Amino acid sequence: MNQNNTDNKVRLTQLVKSAGCAAKIFPDILSEALKGINWTTNENVLVGFDGKDDAGVYKINNDLALIHTTDFFTPVVDDPYIFGQIAATNALSDVYAMGGTPINALNIVAFPQTEDLSILKEILTGGLDKLNETGAVVIGGHSVDIPVILYGMAVTGTINPKNIKANDNAQQGDLLILTKALGTGFLNNMIKFDKLSNEQYNNLIASMTRLNKNASQAMVKYNANACTDITGFGLAGHSMQMAKASGVVLKFKVNDLPILNGVQTAIEKKLWTRGDKSNRDYTRSNIKYLGNLDERTEHIFFDPQTSGGLLISVPVEKAEELLLDIQNNGDVNARIIGEVLSPDENIKPGTIIFDFT
Ligand code: CO
Ligand code: CO
Repeated sequence: MNQNNTDNKVRLTQLVKSAGCAAKIFPDILSEALKGINWTTNENVLVGFDGKDDAGVYKINNDLALIHTTDFFTPVVDDPYIFGQIAATNALSDVYAMGGTPINALNIVAFPQTEDLSILKEILTGGLDKLNETGAVVIGGHSVDIPVILYGMAVTGTINPKNIKANDNAQQGDLLILTKALGTGFLNNMIKFDKLSNEQYNNLIASMTRLNKNASQAMVKYNANACTDITGFGLAGHSMQMAKASGVVLKFKVNDLPILNGVQTAIEKKLWTRGDKSNRDYTRSNIKYLGNLDERTEHIFFDPQTSGGLLISVPVEKAEELLLDIQNNGDVNARIIGEVLSPDENIKPGTIIFDFT
């Protein structure tokens, strides 16, 4: 694979302001817009709008619930086929984060129809190929003709309501496993504004097109206590949501974080995304540091992840075995990165600690 796709005259990433999950509406702005709207619910809504969890879960009967999620964004890479794969992988991720099985998906497309239609065909084929890898089917979609390219999916999955892996059950003493390396926001910016080596590029693409399927099945098998995927709010944002929802404190060993090759160069070049600031603002009052804070490394905690990995909270006695299972099934960058602590008078529930010692 080569990042400067010479077959396409158009470089997709040059058409957009901010790419992938870095293009999210800032959380404080979004909550301002959502405030005061009376979202109705009913007894079948197992996970709904009020929660800060990954996807909506709707009960059909005592043994069956549907998981619904959607995600779409602007191109993160120049190659349309790979962009399609990444967008589909990312859209599926919240189903896997809850321990579910995707069954079908609808395409969501924005594309300027005067542009070369082979680009759109490639994007859709990339998405379809990823869906085929899961066993789920694409059963329709919706498209609009506007000057920006957007692609993603609305995905439906199934789960037994008793087996839902939410983000609100992390238990004191659990260990925390992260299944993919961090830094996709930086490296997507390197593609847009600078250049990655072929090896760095290939590692990045392998990570963003890697389904969370196997890792999800493993954490269900080992009966993890809680799970979420690390996407637009970064490690800091999504782990804060887990800590708050579970009423616990999460502590990360900074030296144990898996980080994509090329991130250090991006930091030297100050190529963090717009999400760096918004994710800092979002998490500021819930973060503590231990040891000597390294401000360069700190940027990694706030980097929005496009198609990031799962953060799994698992009882300590099962953690090593689960980690090995995940690694052996292809998520080679998976690591144990921290632990779950109980809050005390000095550390409120919902706190995340980055330990630099
Ligand atoms: Co999620
Ligand atoms: Co999501």
